[in-house]
Amino acid sequence: MSQAAKEPTYLEQDLNTYSGISDYYDVLMTNGYYDYDEITRDLTEILGSRQRVLELGVGTGLVAEGLVKQNPKLSITGLDNTESMLTQAKERLGDKIQYELQDVTTLSLDQTFEASFSVGGCWYFIDLGDRLEFCSHIDDRKTCEESLRRVVEHLEPGGVLALALQGTHTDYSKSLTDELTYSQAIHDEGAGLFTKQYTFTKQDKVVAEQFYRYLVISDQEIHNFFLELGCKPLGLNSTRKFFTYQKQR
Ligand SMILES: C[S@@+](CC[C@H](N)C(=O)[O-])C[C@H]1O[C@@H](n2cnc3c(N)ncnc32)[C@H](O)[C@@H]1O
Repeated sequence: MSQAAKEPTYLEQDLNTYSGISDYYDVLMTNGYYDYDEITRDLTEILGSRQRVLELGVGTGLVAEGLVKQNPKLSITGLDNTESMLTQAKERLGDKIQYELQDVTTLSLDQTFEASFSVGGCWYFIDLGDRLEFCSHIDDRKTCEESLRRVVEHLEPGGVLALALQGTHTDYSKSLTDELTYSQAIHDEGAGLFTKQYTFTKQDKVVAEQFYRYLVISDQEIHNFFLELGCKPLGLNSTRKFFTYQKQR
């Protein structure tokens, strides 16, 4: 039976965390969900000589791992609000980066950064070809805007914020190993919200499941909001995998 066909049934308190699927996160991601080598190349180019960097939604540290391997001089602070994800990042990277178990909605650090980025972390863009859609893990508009304001406050003048692009979300099922299958289903909730259902099964038995509700904002609206925050939209990088803003001096 395809899990993707299942109607969403979840408790609000179980929503919007990665704790339900963190044990299976790496096996999904390293089976082609993201291309971490390409991400490393793109981000290395975007960061240039910038060294003090804040990763928004570091997860298990897969992006940070590639970056510090490429440039050991980088000082990355990995922020995440899911403890079980951050624990894996610490196991992976030890003292190669710094960690902050914080929700970006209340972001408060005693330092500023030359750059910040998110790869499917707190925010990302969906690439629709002729336009982008801004996609937020923070599903309340006002809270999302307040969080972005906090991120910009933590950037130094001239600092950049790079957000990764993804393809459109679809329903599908895929074998990850001989016994493990991943399925995702997208449920449109209207009013700019959709819920994504992540399901891992072993021999048709659900071993992990998570629901996440996302907020979608048009590219023009979000560019205008960043301009209000004093950040100029610099545009897409050469591979069309990142969109970058720069805090004005
Ligand atoms: C899809 S994972 C991406 C992880 C990593 N960037 C990667 O590419 O593998 C999204 C991460 O963002 C974190 N996240 C989502 N909303 C957040 C919030 N409000 N504050 C902090 N972290 C958040 C989640 O806990 C999760 O670890």
